[in-house]
Order: sequence, then C-alpha cells, then structure tokens
Amino acid sequence: MDVLQELETRREAARMGGGAKRIAAQHSKGKLTARERIELLLDADSFEEFDMFVAHRCTDFGMEKERPAGDGVVTGWGTINGRLVYVFSQDFTVMGGSVSETHGQKICKIMDMAIQNGAPIIGINDSGGARIQEGVASLAAYGEVFQRNITASGVVPQISLIMGPTAGGAVYSPAMTDFIFMVKDSSYMFVTGPDVVKTVTNEQVTAEELGGAGTHTRKSSVADAAFENDVEAIAEVRRLIDFLPLHNRQKPPVRPFFDDVNRIEESLDTLVPDNPNMPYDMKELITKLADEGDFYEIQEEFAKNILTGFIRLEGSTVGVVANQPMVLAGCLDIDASRKAARFVRFCDAFDIPILTLVDVPGFLPGTSQEYAGVIKHGAKLLFAYGEATVPKVTVITRKAYGGAYVVMSSKHLRGDFNYAWPTSEIAVMGAKGATEIIHRADAGDPEKIAKHTKDYEDRFANPFVAAEKGVIDEVIMPQSTRKRICRAFASLRTKKVQTPWKKHDNIPL
Ligand code: HXC
Repeated sequence: MDVLQELETRREAARMGGGAKRIAAQHSKGKLTARERIELLLDADSFEEFDMFVAHRCTDFGMEKERPAGDGVVTGWGTINGRLVYVFSQDFTVMGGSVSETHGQKICKIMDMAIQNGAPIIGINDSGGARIQEGVASLAAYGEVFQRNITASGVVPQISLIMGPTAGGAVYSPAMTDFIFMVKDSSYMFVTGPDVVKTVTNEQVTAEELGGAGTHTRKSSVADAAFENDVEAIAEVRRLIDFLPLHNRQKPPVRPFFDDVNRIEESLDTLVPDNPNMPYDMKELITKLADEGDFYEIQEEFAKNILTGFIRLEGSTVGVVANQPMVLAGCLDIDASRKAARFVRFCDAFDIPILTLVDVPGFLPGTSQEYAGVIKHGAKLLFAYGEATVPKVTVITRKAYGGAYVVMSSKHLRGDFNYAWPTSEIAVMGAKGATEIIHRADAGDPEKIAKHTKDYEDRFANPFVAAEKGVIDEVIMPQSTRKRICRAFASLRTKKVQTPWKKHDNIPL
C-alpha cells in the first residue's frame, strides 16, 4: 500500500511543476501551464506521459539541492480527433522551462518515437533558453533536438507553438519545423534580445517589437499565424492536424463531406471584372470551390499578394496557392515567392495535391527587388513547382503573363490539368507594354498605338492561342470549376512519377 501511495504522492508533486505560486504567476500573464495546454490540445483522457520523474543531474551551483520531477518539460503522446500525435510542452514554472541535458533528452525521446511510428510532433515552447547552470551540456541538448528536427523534416509534420519566451539559439528548433503559431502579447522569438540589440546597434526596441507575434507574422514571416490567446492557438493546431497526413507515406485524411461535388457556382461567371485592371477577391473563388467553404489559410498576414492554405475537395486535403489581385495586382515578388515555395514543398513532401489559381501580371519590378535577389527567390517557387510530383491542377482566371505564367504550375512544369477560364489572357506581357516595344517606331502616334494594342489584345488576350498549342488542356466555364477540379484530382489519385536518382536537389536558397 505504501508504494502505491508513494507513486500517487510523487505524481502529485510532478503535476504541481514549480508550485502554486509560480502557476499563479503563469496565469497572471494570461498563459496556461504546460499541462493545461496539453489537456486542451489532445482528446480528453488520451494523454500518456513519458518521463514524469526524470530529474536533472547537474551538481554545479548547488543545483543538486533542487531536482524537480519532470525537469521543466512535459512529454508524451495522445490523440487529436482520434489520430496519434507526440507532444512536448515546456513548463515555465520549473526553472523557467530552461533546457538542461535531461530536459533535452526527454524531448529527443518522443521525437525519436514520432519518427519511428510516423506521427506528427507538436512542440509547445515556453522557455528561458539554455539552463544557465549546465553550460555546454545544455547547448548539446539543443543540438540533439536540432538534429532530430532535421531528420524528421519531410517525414512527419512538425508544428511549433510559441507560448512564451524563445530566445537565442533556441529559436532554431521551431525555425526548422513546418509551422509556427504564436500567441499575441505573450510570446516572442529573437536571436538576440533588446538589451544586446541596444548595445550593438544602438536601436531601442521592445521585446514585442523585436520578436512578437505581429513582427513574425507580418514582417519576418518566421511565424505562420498569430492568435489572441493560448486557447485559440491550440484549437487552431487541432484544426490544422485534421488536414495533414500523419507521415509522408500516408495519404492525407479523408473527412466526411456534405457538399455537392457537382455544385455549380453561377456567381463565378461574373467574378472577373470586365476591366482587366480592376481587382477582385481571389479568396472568394477559393471558398466557393472548397468543401463547405472551409479555407485554412497559412501566412495570412504576410505577402498578401499570394494566398496559401488548405481546403478539402470530396473530403480530401488539397493545398491551394493563388495570386491575389487585390494586393499589388497579384504580382510575384520576393516575399510571395518564398511564401508559396515553402508551402508547395510542404505539400509535395506530404503527398498533398496542389491547386493553383492564377491571375498574375508578372514579377514586381524595381531595384529593391533586384538587389534583394528576386532572381534567386523567384526561382524557389519555379523550382518547387517543377520538382513537385503530387497531383497538380491549375486554373488561370485572368492574367498569366511572362515568366510568372511559367512559374505558376504551368503545363511546362508537369502540371497535370491546366484549365483556363474564358477571361484568361496568356501572353508575354500586357497588350500596352507589348505594343510599346514591338511598335516603338509608332510611339508618337496614339492612334496607331491604340490600333496595335487592340490587335495584340485580339490575338493574345484570350486563352485560345494557348489552348490551340495544348499548353492549356481545356477552357472551362467558371461556374463549373469545382466540378472540373474535383474530377481532375479524383483521376490523379493513383499518379506516379519517376524521377532520376539524386542525393537531393540544390534548390536556390
Ligand atoms: C536557468 C532560468 C533560466 C535559464 C529563467 N530561469 N531562465 N533558470 N536557466 N536560462 C529561471 C529564473 O531563475 C526563475 O527562477 C524562473 O526561471 C523564472 O524566471 P524569471 O526571470 O523570474 O521570469 P521572467 O521575469 O518572466 O523572465 C523570463 C526571461 C528571463 C526573460 C526568460 O528569465 C531571462 O532573461 N532568462 C535568461 C534567458 C537567457 O539568457 N537564456 C539563455 C539564452 S541563450 P525562480 O526560481 O526565481 O522561479 C540560449 C542558447 C541556446 O538559450 C543555444 C542553443 C544552441
């Protein structure tokens, strides 16, 4: 009986983490505790804990006197809507969630199991960084976690929740995961904090400005989404997991759906305005194509000229990449190319088919783009599409000009179905620009220029020249787009592509 009692007593002590006072301090910052977060993340009663009694081995600085059970991180596995996931959740109430040798070993243990068993890893980060008293042992622990992030990349989905401080080299573990979600006002990520920044560059900046959720979702694109509080962020991770396969050898999950595959959307026939320079909202098209209008957007706040995210068609996950004419006329620039390229590569790694919706006037011109390397960054998206072997269905709604036409999952990059709406214009550039170049001699004669422009429009401002050449498979009615793309993806479920052997490619980084 005594041993049973001892187990309960020890468990109770471990569950209390850093004690009632520190738990209250955590709550007063609007943050949940490590265990509360796991409870919300996983299905009720599904959590199985590992290593609850692990304690650190440090004997420097009097550390042997304080050896809390669990060592500042709660690890284990459970289910999200019945599907297996592995999780670690750093406990800020225990030595600031700092990473010791044993803390790192706990994380590595569940990462190894996730890789072996083929299930996602969800990391909840809330930590003061390397356990200062342990010195290099703590750095080594981080290094071991980093290596596993790399090994797991493309094998199982990795999702990071940033729910407190994440500073110094510690940021590099989340940075290598597939998705990073932050919580507004209570989380930050930076390589060097405000004090060091002040000393080195003389910039005065708060932690929030330097590395808060707003900075990383809008400016740096380090994070994929920001949420109001822990509860909302965790609920969104559950929703995201529902879209993803558990590992790279599994098809994405098929969910029950209640939307008619043959649904006709007559409003789409008038989505594209008569005036080619008028914008329209590409999100409207995405939600009208998706099962039940459900679009899970990734990086909503960054490079808004391109949209990325997940929808379902006939219950199966599809990744969507779409130019957004409402922002910068939907052109491709460095940020948009990077954002979409990473998304395309995620989809390809996890066997998620890609739907591309095209209305792109070209790449954004300018010295700032060229100096910052738009050539290399634009090439990332081109490369990502070209190497992707998952089913690829493309619909051109309006403009598909120049290099951007080729980049956006064209036939030439092994697009499987390349559809165009009757409103499409597939050309080297817009009619006005084209006329000014090929009829430079008539530049002083507005009448002649107008006629040349009209001639160019008549020839190229339509999908039929491309359709005659077979680089468009079919010109389709906008209203029937959902039906057409659902049938296309259904026909591609058994797609197989052989590629020549290579160790790995050399995507322009
Ligand atoms: C050991 C730590 C700790 C750490 C915090 N604590 N960080 N213990 N190692 N790195 C402990 C504190 O002593 C305190 O213990 C408790 O956690 C809570 O910390 P507070 O400072 O009271 O909390 P708060 O005021 O909220 O400040 C949080 C903080 C601050 C901003 C994170 O604690 C801080 O600046 N910590 C040090 C951060 C740091 O420099 N880390 C090393 C970064 S370099 P008690 O007992 O009082 O509750 C790094 C390299 C990784 O991480 C390299 C990987 C390759």
